[in-house]
Amino acid sequence: MSKVQLTVNGTKHEREVEDRTLLVDLLRDHLGLTGTHIGCDTSQCGCCTVHVNGRAVKSCTMLAAQANGADVLTIEGLAEGDKLHPVQQAFTDCHGLQCGFCTPGMIMAVVGLLKDNPNPTDEEIYQGLEGNLCRCTGYINIVKAVKQAARTMK
Ligand code: FES
Ligand code: FES
Repeated sequence: MSKVQLTVNGTKHEREVEDRTLLVDLLRDHLGLTGTHIGCDTSQCGCCTVHVNGRAVKSCTMLAAQANGADVLTIEGLAEGDKLHPVQQAFTDCHGLQCGFCTPGMIMAVVGLLKDNPNPTDEEIYQGLEGNLCRCTGYINIVKAVKQAARTMK
């Protein structure tokens, strides 16, 4: 067993978990933050993307114990009260989702992308989101949403 202390969305937590526990399972099963989804468990889909110490990571690729001492941001921590984050607002405005299953991970990946590159080209958006799969949208509206968010966040 491992004792894990971490801060998630500004709140400190401490849990004792099995050594093999993945960060995504700690978030979902131990902390009840089920906005982070599991689509594959094999590092393919990006549904589980969260930020760890400011970097977007697939939380199914990381052990919970590796996040000991880390600062984690999940989709639940993105909005400020009733005010959606500009990326969340852009996905809503541009219909950048259909079933919504990929959306939390997609949004966390976009937030990371725009942090690194506030004004991405279409090609840079494709490359930046190549680790996130969507089975519904055809990606066109997701790209529109990224561009709207980039404009809003300037
Ligand atoms: S659940 Fe983590 S990449 Fe698919
Ligand atoms: S909106 Fe359904 S998988 Fe992306």
